[in-house]
Amino acid sequence: MLLFFLAVPVFSEWKPMENDSVHDPEAPALSLLQSPSEALSVLPPDKSGNKVNWVEALRQGHINPRTNLFPETKIEVLDLDNYFSNTGSMKVVRFPHLPHTEWLDCSNCHDKIFKKGRGSNEFGMFSILKGDFCGQCHGAVAFPLTECGRCHSLTRDEYKKINQAELTQ
Ligand code: HEC
Ligand code: HEC
Ligand code: HEC
Repeated sequence: MLLFFLAVPVFSEWKPMENDSVHDPEAPALSLLQSPSEALSVLPPDKSGNKVNWVEALRQGHINPRTNLFPETKIEVLDLDNYFSNTGSMKVVRFPHLPHTEWLDCSNCHDKIFKKGRGSNEFGMFSILKGDFCGQCHGAVAFPLTECGRCHSLTRDEYKKINQAELTQ
């Protein structure tokens, strides 16, 4: 019973497939498909996008996607954070390589979307909203751009401390 009540808010976010403007309501196979609300309800919930926190889903072992098609493909995971501080009155942006490289290959970003050099990419929120840089994925295949605080996550003070620590390394 408790489970039922907990599940309701998540379920109610999804429209039935007959009128979700994605599926053909006339399709005879529609009744054979599992509804997204049911399929995704077992994964860690999120408030936005497709209502699943995919980073947590992977971390907690709910899903175990295949990392490579060919055995010779080298998988590289990188635990390195980069920062973007040209954010006006917004918090500083922390870009974590770790959760990205758990899903993506270096070549998905380097050097087509981002040059590697620290501070070598000139862009701002306008280009992101246009669908470039971070916006090539966020709002398309990763959490949406309305989630400002997930990227703009560090206060100036927190950023200064990290910056100092890095400089004295
Ligand atoms: C996917 C990550 C991401 C999300 C989500 C995001 N931003 Fe940004 N934002 C950035 C990055 C990266 C920059 C560039 C900072 C730099 O160049 O130093 C930026 C820059 C900015 C700037 C600085 C001025 C400018 O035009 O570049 C403002 C203001 C800003 N964002 C507001 C927002 C607001 C408001 C939201 C939510 C509606 C938001 N951002 C969501 C990543 C993000
Ligand atoms: C989702 C996109 C993305 C992926 C995937 C990615 N990177 Fe990056 N990388 C970035 C961004 C953004 C920066 C920061 C560039 C800047 O400061 O303008 C960066 C910076 C770097 C830097 C410079 C860091 C520094 O502080 O000097 C190195 C080295 C790097 N990446 C290596 C890698 C490697 C190796 C992989 C794969 C294991 C990888 N990256 C995957 C986006 C990505
Ligand atoms: C090539 C695609 C791609 C690009 C480009 C990209 N991201 Fe992501 N990002 C992802 C994916 C995939 C995830 C994991 C799924 C999700 O959280 O929706 C993710 C997750 C994140 C997370 C969440 C980490 C967590 O622990 O929950 C942050 C923060 C983030 N991205 C910031 C950025 C910023 C800032 C930029 C630009 C500097 C950027 N991303 C560019 C694909 C991308």
